[in-house]
Amino acid sequence: MSEFAPSNSSARVENRSRPRRALITGGAGFIGSHLAESIIASGGSIVAIDDLSTGDRSNASHLPADRFRLIKATVAEGLAALGDDERFDEIYHLAAGVGVDLVLERPTEVIEGSLRNASAVLDAARRWRCPVLLASSSEVYGKSERVPFREEDDVVYGPTTMTRWSYAYAKGMDEFVALNHHQRHGTRAVIARFFNTVGPRQSGEWGMVLPRFVSAALRGEPLRVFGDGRQQRCFCDVRDVARILPVLLRRPESAGGVYNVGGDRLISVRELAQRVCAVLGSVSRIELVPYERAYAPGFEDVAVRQPDLTRLRTATGFEPTISLDQTIRDLASWMRQSGAAPQAGGPVARAAGGGN
Ligand SMILES: NC(=O)c1ccc[n+]([C@@H]2O[C@H](COP(=O)([O-])OP(=O)(O)OC[C@H]3O[C@@H](n4cnc5c(N)ncnc54)[C@H](O)[C@@H]3O)[C@@H](O)[C@H]2O)c1
Repeated sequence: MSEFAPSNSSARVENRSRPRRALITGGAGFIGSHLAESIIASGGSIVAIDDLSTGDRSNASHLPADRFRLIKATVAEGLAALGDDERFDEIYHLAAGVGVDLVLERPTEVIEGSLRNASAVLDAARRWRCPVLLASSSEVYGKSERVPFREEDDVVYGPTTMTRWSYAYAKGMDEFVALNHHQRHGTRAVIARFFNTVGPRQSGEWGMVLPRFVSAALRGEPLRVFGDGRQQRCFCDVRDVARILPVLLRRPESAGGVYNVGGDRLISVRELAQRVCAVLGSVSRIELVPYERAYAPGFEDVAVRQPDLTRLRTATGFEPTISLDQTIRDLASWMRQSGAAPQAGGPVARAAGGGN
């Protein structure tokens, strides 16, 4: 029987597993803080390494101090600070430069940092003999037109002269290194290819589409949509994602495997904007922004991005449980409460994309 059942019984089933001590890089980030919360809820404790470059201390401020420790440092510094006596049951490597905008602004930093950090974390997992989950991305599929995307599919990238693809290459390199670590050293590495993950605590600062839309809708400002808005994406609530990651990592059979993680219900970006306005009762209008005005000339977007979730479902029984409407409401509540609504009137390039 899988450890995870897609019903109300899931929390009970997971709680039966022994409490874990987990290391989360990027643990003060969006997905990382929800993952920490989920592991703590099942009795575990967390050490998080985060340099707070895109994350925020407040994301984890509600977590109990005796079970959540934040090391404010880069991945390399944080691992060095931990020392040889530390022991972990599992590692989640989520720290990364995230978002299309960040990649366009600082590609070298993103590429070099990605590979260096993945290698350092894999070496630590080998040393501590514990399983490690690496966060990859649907970007790895590039501009493949064969949907839904399956883990073993061929991928198609744009040329290296287009900076936009560097994130895909970088995440792909991380995957190679992790899989090789598994083959050569027996490291229990698992790759999670995240598709659009959304929910409370997600910052819109680096071009993430849903927080941008929700923020604009709350302010009554236009929701800016790239191109004709017909590009399609699948969204999954971060709480569903956070809940399934430990289940995936703790299965010994997951080691050396690549798994799509996300929702598989398609929605166009234009429909998403309409949905946000409808759910929040916003009078904002939707404004179409040509790609060439939003990004550098020649920017390529991906028409349809949809995961095939067969492998994840078979391994874990995963089914998303939180509706998109609920996610929109919860994200809006969080923005109202925290005052975290980003400036919707910022540069157009950051306002409308299918970022991540
Ligand atoms: N959110 C999504 O839809 C999505 C989609 C695909 C992939 N991912 C991947 O999931 C992971 C988590 O993303 P997220 O959405 O939570 O973003 P996030 O920006 O909220 O989280 C990343 C965290 O890592 C930290 N960080 C960045 N570089 C660091 C470094 N060198 N040392 C220490 N800490 C560092 C940041 O401060 C941040 O807290 C990333 O690897 C990202 O590529 C996310």
